[in-house]
Amino acid sequence: MKLIQKTLVILALLAVATGAYAAPKKIVVGFAQLGSESGWRTANTISIQDTFNADPSVTLLYSDAQQKQENQIRALRTFIARHVDVILFTALVETGYGPVMQQAARAHIPIIMIDRDVQKSDQKYRLCIMGSDFVKEGQKAGLWLADYLKKMNMDNGPINIVQIEGTTGSAPAIERSQGFADIVKDHSNWKITRSQTGNFTVDGGKQVMQAFLKADKGIQVLFAQNDSMALGAEQAIKEAGLKPGKDIIVIGCDGVKEAFEAMVAGEQNATIECNPLLGPQALKAVHDLMDGKKLPGRIWTVEGVYDQTNAAAALPTRQY
Ligand code: AHR
Repeated sequence: MKLIQKTLVILALLAVATGAYAAPKKIVVGFAQLGSESGWRTANTISIQDTFNADPSVTLLYSDAQQKQENQIRALRTFIARHVDVILFTALVETGYGPVMQQAARAHIPIIMIDRDVQKSDQKYRLCIMGSDFVKEGQKAGLWLADYLKKMNMDNGPINIVQIEGTTGSAPAIERSQGFADIVKDHSNWKITRSQTGNFTVDGGKQVMQAFLKADKGIQVLFAQNDSMALGAEQAIKEAGLKPGKDIIVIGCDGVKEAFEAMVAGEQNATIECNPLLGPQALKAVHDLMDGKKLPGRIWTVEGVYDQTNAAAALPTRQY
């Protein structure tokens, strides 16, 4: 080996030994997910995990709280103790996270909310929120119903509506109820006769609908605050000898594939889209943040409304 080559090798070995050539430090991100209650949630988790795990500059720490707030708070504390660079956080319910979020703020760990926000007074501890406009989704459900009843010449008589709500105290349950009620109050002949939580699960939707059907023979419309509960309720309606989508108008939220299949089969009337595929958007936000860019306080997701008129055409391209 010539002297110059020898010198280069020695310099390289010295650089490695002194740490000057150490691999660049990875960005460590903690993701505090709330659980896996619905098809939507599974798609959301996979989107974040796949996107972050495909980026070699990032290490993703994932925690599934299994729908228990105490588990989620514990996961957040662990992320803080490990001094992660960024926390991604989907709040199970809006209240109860103030102290742990304040702890993250004190440790200078930025929090990006994914999908579900916390109550107003705790929002000062998070940097931004990305996800859907749940109030608008509830309004879209009401507006779709108004249009449909008109088309079916049903808009004059009394309309008996039942609602299956999401997890009590969660942002989508509170805000979809609020948005839907905004439209209901504009129609003096509409009435929400029953409203109960189905906890965003298929089983919950089925059980609540069974109870509604037992107590009330005059249900004309069901607004289920997600498709999982709508699908469970459709089973209950069929088991009661009725036809979902015909005897009872069924509106869901999310836009999962199974809801599209139900619409194509004539068993669900509409779904209000809520896009769970937030991985790419979340990764971009993390990189922007690490590069010193300022993030907007709110990053909205663009979403549509689907019913039996366009479900078959959209089904082959649905990603979740
Ligand atoms: O927060 C989004 C909601 O949570 C989705 O509508 C629902 O399916 C999920 O469980």
